[in-house]
Amino acid sequence: MSASPEKPAHNPAEAAPPVPRHVAIIMDGNGRWAARRGLPRFEGHRRGMEALRNVVRIAGDLGIDYLTVYGFSSENWSRPAAEIADLMGLLRHFVRRDLADLHRNNVRVRIIGTDEGLAPDLVGLLAEAENLTRDNTALTLVVAFNYGARQEMARAARRLAADVAAGRLAVDDISVERFAKALDTADIPDPDLVIRTSGEQRMSNFLLWQAAYAELVFTPVLWPDFDRGAFEEALSEYQRRERRFGGLSSAIG
Ligand code: IPE
Ligand code: IPE
Ligand code: MG
Repeated sequence: MSASPEKPAHNPAEAAPPVPRHVAIIMDGNGRWAARRGLPRFEGHRRGMEALRNVVRIAGDLGIDYLTVYGFSSENWSRPAAEIADLMGLLRHFVRRDLADLHRNNVRVRIIGTDEGLAPDLVGLLAEAENLTRDNTALTLVVAFNYGARQEMARAARRLAADVAAGRLAVDDISVERFAKALDTADIPDPDLVIRTSGEQRMSNFLLWQAAYAELVFTPVLWPDFDRGAFEEALSEYQRRERRFGGLSSAIG
């Protein structure tokens, strides 16, 4: 394309780095936040829920389309029963207290993970949240609860195998795209950015398939302290990255 003389050399609107369409967050560090204050772990989880409420609002303000949050991993069942009960109770509380607000703000709620092992009333509440908000068109809030990426991929493999066994699917039609459609995240775009708080630098079985080309940002901030400033800092780090997807640097081309 040839440069037109009327066009300004530097168009600030064009140069503005894009806001990621999908941000996924590993909300870690609630226990350490509490321990540092001599408080019970529950208090860290409770404050973590407040941080989540705030981050959902900010994500909407910033024009992010999808926000996925890791609330309870398949491996978190190895924690003491009392802490598991606290985490389940907080999710229950979140849905009961915030669902009407989320719906009013046009937020669509999606749950990924499995119902297995969850109390029936909690499963009912989660289904209610999804059903009530299913036609909303602002932010999609994806809650990964009782979620593990390996378990999700094994479930996808079982679904595909059942389709093959029933004669609905040919083995050769199992492609990357078809596999992705069998995951819990079927109609959700891949995350552009994965943020993990608390200084840990690992995925802990979160979105292993979907984050294949996500940018990873690790921040030492503990989840209950994750505020607008910390969120914006993670986003500007993302905006400084160059995404290549296996191609060549745009600086070379
Ligand atoms: C994150 O905080 C919340 C969940 C894993 C449910 P942690 O409870 O893992 O907090 P730390 O890692 O012990 O500080
Ligand atoms: C990951 O945090 C799970 C959630 C944030 C829900 P963990 O605290 O469970 O992860 P590990 O055990 O440190 O890897
Ligand atoms: Mg942790």
